[in-house]
Amino acid sequence: MFAFNYYTPTRVVFGRGAEAQLGGLVAAAGCKKVLIHYGGGSAVRSGLLDRVRAALEEKGVAHAELGGVQPNPRLSLVYQGIDLARREGVDFILAVGGGSVIDSAKAIGYGLANEGDVWDFYEHTRQAEACLPIGVVLTIAAAGSEMSSSSVITRDEGGVKRGYSSDLCRPVFAVMDPELTVTLPAYQTACGCTDILMHTMERYFTNGGNMELTDAIAEALLRTVMKNAIILRDDPENYAARAEILWAGSLSHNGLTGCGNDGGDFATHGLEHELSGMFGVPHGAGLAALWGSWARYVYRECLPRFVRFARNVMDVAGDGADEEIALRGIGAMEDFFRGIRMPVNLKELGVAPTEEQLKTMAHMCAVAYGGFRGSAKRLYEEDMLKVYRMAAE
Ligand code: NZQ
Ligand code: ZN
Repeated sequence: MFAFNYYTPTRVVFGRGAEAQLGGLVAAAGCKKVLIHYGGGSAVRSGLLDRVRAALEEKGVAHAELGGVQPNPRLSLVYQGIDLARREGVDFILAVGGGSVIDSAKAIGYGLANEGDVWDFYEHTRQAEACLPIGVVLTIAAAGSEMSSSSVITRDEGGVKRGYSSDLCRPVFAVMDPELTVTLPAYQTACGCTDILMHTMERYFTNGGNMELTDAIAEALLRTVMKNAIILRDDPENYAARAEILWAGSLSHNGLTGCGNDGGDFATHGLEHELSGMFGVPHGAGLAALWGSWARYVYRECLPRFVRFARNVMDVAGDGADEEIALRGIGAMEDFFRGIRMPVNLKELGVAPTEEQLKTMAHMCAVAYGGFRGSAKRLYEEDMLKVYRMAAE
């Protein structure tokens, strides 16, 4: 077991109609002016944005607005947001949307609270010293950014997608009403479920320590998400299933399922960020398309964990050599992904990278993490290329 430092400062206000408490939460933050940040239109169409404005106005909280965040959020909009927020004298950012909106809000928050170019943080050339407070009204269960320390931004030129983590950006509060997620297209719901599973699996498949309690929480979370993802595939308006998934999304990435281990593997995430940076695919779908190839490449080096996963999570029964059980567990996970209509290779994802593009992604991924990534097995550039090639076959 590793020592750990578990920090989750985010107040979670969860349940039907939770957004009714929004005005009070923002007013309690003691801010003068709020930037309402949102995405490409779902919050406008659903009427949520109107309700958010009304909640602030009711409490006499002034606000400015910036919409237009696209999935895999762009640095150019972050710069616009920093300029706007400076001009407007904003001192609090309210993200209304999913991971992309929240991450864009976090980047704007860093940009306002620090001198110089905010992209430096994402290139890891220096550390942020502060971040404006962030509040969240969450509309999709997926990235877990509503409680996480990370944000992921794509620089427009060259599609360079990079993450930056610091406790400074952990949101002050997250309003989470499962009903707000009912308008999600089935594909986005499935992408979100995949990302949630992956945040826990990235921490579960490690060679660096574990705790019985953390493993048990992780396994329960994985089983719960899989069960409810199937329910939502068949019954998208099922409130109870929406609620299970929404809460799982936060717990999957707020650090809870990493307590006592070495921080996890996260190689699939590293590989996926290059993929969605280059091809603009949804993050969850990109993860599903890569995971099986990654798992088959690394499982021998982390065999006890893969066997445990097969038995405890995927319900693989019967006798067999450990390798066989592990492979059956991997296959069962891929069957699950297919069952929620997620791709399990790049062809199914709808991208056909050239060999040059595969090499570029492997190179950029290796550079992004200082040469290697992974705990189940350390992947160097040549390993990353092999995993990409397996996924592209
Ligand atoms: O832009 P709008 O119109 O709102 O549409 C969005 C978007 O097209 C739509 N959507 C969201 N809520 C909706 C809705 N449509 C209908 N009804 C609703 N209630 O869903 C689409 C996807 O939204 P997005 O915010 O991109 O999804 P997600 O939460 O999956 O975020 C993905 C981003 O987060 C990053 C990913 O790399 C990606 O850039 N990640 C952030 C992490 C973090 N900060 O901790 C960790 C993750 O591993 C991940 O890397
Ligand atoms: Zn993710």
